[in-house]
Amino acid sequence: MPLVSASSDALDAAAAHLRRGGIVAFPTETVYGLGANALDVRAVARIFEAKGRPEFDPLIVHVLDATMLARVALPLPPAALRLIERFWPGPLTLVVRKTEAVPHLVTAGLPTVAVRMPAHPVARALIARTGVPLAAPSANPFGYLSPTRAEHVVRMLGERVDMIVNGGPTEHGVESTIVAFEPTVTILRAGAIAREAIEAAIGPVASDLGDDAAPLSPGRLPQHYAPSAPIRIVDFESVPPHERAAAAGVGFAVAPPGYRVARALSTQGSLREAAARLFDVLHELDALTPARIDVEAVPAEGLGVAIMDRLRRAERR
Ligand code: TXA
Ligand code: MG
Repeated sequence: MPLVSASSDALDAAAAHLRRGGIVAFPTETVYGLGANALDVRAVARIFEAKGRPEFDPLIVHVLDATMLARVALPLPPAALRLIERFWPGPLTLVVRKTEAVPHLVTAGLPTVAVRMPAHPVARALIARTGVPLAAPSANPFGYLSPTRAEHVVRMLGERVDMIVNGGPTEHGVESTIVAFEPTVTILRAGAIAREAIEAAIGPVASDLGDDAAPLSPGRLPQHYAPSAPIRIVDFESVPPHERAAAAGVGFAVAPPGYRVARALSTQGSLREAAARLFDVLHELDALTPARIDVEAVPAEGLGVAIMDRLRRAERR
């Protein structure tokens, strides 16, 4: 069992795992997070795999300081700056415009990134030692209660993670409050900071407490990434040559022949790699303005379920 208490040596080992693309559970002041290098798309794909998420929900990116914030977020609106002054480091997540450095998989294709600066000393020490922002959802399998103790993580995710850093029970036990700024300042998830406290800092705010920020989750908003070329899930054997000439083709393990442009998601047939590359491949092909993007179905198991869910949403558009 990779459970360790948060000693200096343990934090060094955890940071080494993270720098190598591993996933590490760690305490924050709200709940335990399951972290990966936010700038490493393969590492981020491992988070979705370990959690068994049925779709690519966007993740919260945890930063240490203003310098690290600037790597992932574009200049912030005034209301965000006031909230930062008042509540960071702490259990407040801000949805702001992302930089190019943030992979599409982290934000589920959205042009925004959810970012927060945690206060927990173990979380901060881990980010500092790793030297990169950490993408971290709550460290629970999809649909389960969030973990507030390392033992919860052990029970729920146990051997699926590289390491679990024990920092004792978390302070807040509920997740961070999530605030978005466009089109108006809106609370998307009630959390550890009350609405009243937020309004005391910046005045009246709207709230849209759907199902855990569901209204802004992938596939539910127009600003959500969808390629401009129509997507079709196909069996390549049934696509005649004349239909291939103007289209782009995306195979799982093999790039299909005869297409104007074609890619394979993972030449090793790895669903993890396929998930990590999916959004990037679609972006790349879409920029070439093909008449259509034909995508082969991947095995609907593990991360393949998330991939197929995402493709079906894109196909319906
Ligand atoms: O307290 C917390 O926030 C914990 C600790 C680990 O930091 N993390 C957490 O992450 O609760 P997670 O993945 O369980 O919840 C993230 C929420 C989801 O509801 C997701 O839809 C929303 O944040 N979210 C992430 N990026 C978003 C974006 N760009 N726009 C709107 N909502 C976003
Ligand atoms: Mg969660």
